[in-house]
Amino acid sequence: MNRLPDPCVFVIFGGAGDLASRLLLPALCNLKATGLLPTGFALIGVARAEMTDDSFRAQTCAALEKTAAGIAGEDRQWICERLNYVKGDFDDPQTYAALGKRLAELQQAANAGPSALFYLATPPSYFAPIVRQLGAAGLVREEPGKWRRVIVEKPFGRDLASAETLNGEILSVLAESQTYRIDHYLGKETVQNIMALRFANGLFEPLWNRNHIDHVQITVAETLGVEHRGRFYDATGALRDMVPSHLFQLFSLTAMEPPTCFDADQVRVEKTKVLNAVHFSTNEAQSDVVRAQYTAGDADGRQMSAYRNSPDVRPDSDTETFVAMKLRIANWRWTGVPFYLRTGKGLARRRTEILIRFKRAPLALFHEVTDAELVPNDLVLHIQPDEGVSLSFSAKFPGQKFRLGEVNMEFKYGDYFQEEPRTGYETLLYDCMIGDATQFQRADTIEAGWKIVQPILDRWADDAGSVPQYTAGSRGPREADALMERDGRQWRSLDSNGTEKVA
Ligand code: BG6
Repeated sequence: MNRLPDPCVFVIFGGAGDLASRLLLPALCNLKATGLLPTGFALIGVARAEMTDDSFRAQTCAALEKTAAGIAGEDRQWICERLNYVKGDFDDPQTYAALGKRLAELQQAANAGPSALFYLATPPSYFAPIVRQLGAAGLVREEPGKWRRVIVEKPFGRDLASAETLNGEILSVLAESQTYRIDHYLGKETVQNIMALRFANGLFEPLWNRNHIDHVQITVAETLGVEHRGRFYDATGALRDMVPSHLFQLFSLTAMEPPTCFDADQVRVEKTKVLNAVHFSTNEAQSDVVRAQYTAGDADGRQMSAYRNSPDVRPDSDTETFVAMKLRIANWRWTGVPFYLRTGKGLARRRTEILIRFKRAPLALFHEVTDAELVPNDLVLHIQPDEGVSLSFSAKFPGQKFRLGEVNMEFKYGDYFQEEPRTGYETLLYDCMIGDATQFQRADTIEAGWKIVQPILDRWADDAGSVPQYTAGSRGPREADALMERDGRQWRSLDSNGTEKVA
């Protein structure tokens, strides 16, 4: 039986924005539908737009009819009735005075108790100013029976120095235990399942090391281009946008040591340790990293224009839309096992997956089969779409001749578990309300991620050379293939769906 959060007020800075109406509020509707919100619950949207409680409610409810269309009307209604609005600039102390007044009122009127969660769904430049103002207005002071927590969105910094500065600024006001740095990848069921697969089964963990694993590939491929986010993306690029956050979550969950218990600090200690064990020199930042940008092409059945022709992108932009890299982990478990990571926009398929390639059998016993014909076993964790796990292995073709073919054992989430409607934020919002930070990033984990990426950023800052290109709708740049071929390896095809049968 899940624990019910304490009565509380959920404050969204940027409450009139896209993230709130598309993901956060539908997630709260889903939590209500599954009985996981307290009766004493209220919401406050804080934004600059001139609106009253009524007009904010009307606008948000209309948006929810589209974004939460699959949710029962009564649950949507329940959330809408609890919406309130505070208008103000995020750097104006008056906004926080008005917010404090509203919190006190709702504590009585909505029976929402003294606890509150502040969600910063704003551009990153506001993260530190909002936290500072919350502190100055005394809105994040905790007492027994009263918690105050802040959820900080990504991107958390744009390099190591800015992430350290932001952590410093936030932690000068909040305790680490009040700070919830969100990464929506940790809200995905299949990402959480990486730990279940590894640590709830006796089968995999004994094989999960350099003795049995040849290499690991982590792919986050997207078909969409930069869409309407040109301004943000052109100043950010694929490396900053995806690697220290989403890819490193997948990486650290795959490579971490078993924690001593499933507790926020123990899990995060292990994730941070594995990031700290990656040593990336400036030379490796050159030889083991590939970046590229898409040009016009046919992606997913539609004609996509070149990245440089996207709205709000500089026509001579060198911002990368694809990045691939090889990482090595200097610890006893993984020495000698490369981890290859790649992510890009405008690729042939939308696919997030982790491939664990086991070492080949040491020799071919069968007369008609040569050693070279032995195929290694692949364990693939399919994160999205088609969530599940598959394992390939060799089997004998029927007949007199001893011939081997590759077959697949497959588990699909949908075949076993009834999927609840989800936006992916439900678990994270619920966890924050009950005070479980396991699926959130700690300051040192964020900084450990940026430490890996920093030499690459430095290298690129010094490098005036042009960025290689790939055609939209392709599987990425030739240079990424070369990164693997150099080691006698290949990327798992973006076209394969893990269900290929013996020919
Ligand atoms: C976001 C990035 O954090 O994650 C986007 O800013 C990216 O550029 C998105 O498209 C990918 O998330 P998902 O859940 O669609 O894999």
